Amino acid sequence: MLIACWSVKGGSGTTVVSVALAACLARSSPAGALLADLGGDVPAVLGLPEPTGPGLGDWLASGDEVPADALGRLEVKAPAGLALLCAGSDPPAAPGRADVLAAVLAADPRPVVVDCGSGLHGVGRSLAASASASLLVVRPCYLALRRAVRAPVRPSGIILVRDPGRSLGRSDVEEVLGAPVRAEIDVDPAIARAVDAGLWPARLPRSVQRALRDAA
Ligand SMILES: Nc1ncnc2c1ncn2[C@@H]1O[C@H](COP(=O)(O)OP(=O)(O)OP(=O)(O)O)[C@@H](O)[C@H]1O
Ligand SMILES: [Mg+2]
Repeated sequence: MLIACWSVKGGSGTTVVSVALAACLARSSPAGALLADLGGDVPAVLGLPEPTGPGLGDWLASGDEVPADALGRLEVKAPAGLALLCAGSDPPAAPGRADVLAAVLAADPRPVVVDCGSGLHGVGRSLAASASASLLVVRPCYLALRRAVRAPVRPSGIILVRDPGRSLGRSDVEEVLGAPVRAEIDVDPAIARAVDAGLWPARLPRSVQRALRDAA
């Protein structure tokens, strides 16, 4: 199961949702879950030191001389039953390599969550287009919805990050984007504090676990 999380606006909560979803899936999978980071913020959210070794970007930039299965050697052990593929450096991907990445991740026996970041370009766009679940993380915000309507990929589902006082709700978002809201997560200062402390997966509130149970 390959799940791509992406957004159309920076700061929507994509990384927070990706980590939470991967941690939830890891709980019900004996081999844990794999979390692939295209945005670069996942180690910080997991409370890990800044990675120094090669990562996804380096693997993507290398051609056939680096075999597909070298990807497994780049995995880093992370908390909450997660294995992490770090973003690495950011050279252009070699032609066709994004498709190889999508195929390798889709064939992984573990649930795989990819944090595709915001804006959907390059590899993130290919993964969001080919994943078994393509989840748009969005706030119920007019400016974000305008962008989402024009996004190059149609999401299969929406994770709505609800800040209080908005006039747009679940049904408005579903109607505008033509995709179901799979989970609603409140903007909650306790979540922000857990993220700031690098303790997010260890301190997943029950409400978030419940919300994400059927998100994919
Ligand atoms: N549900 C939430 N409640 C409170 N704070 C949140 C929530 N979701 C995200 N945040 C906070 O909002 C900020 C942005 O979150 P996050 O980094 O996940 O967004 P992003 O979409 O991944 O951003 P980027 O586009 O930079 O990758 C962080 O400070 C995070 O702690
Ligand atoms: Mg992010």
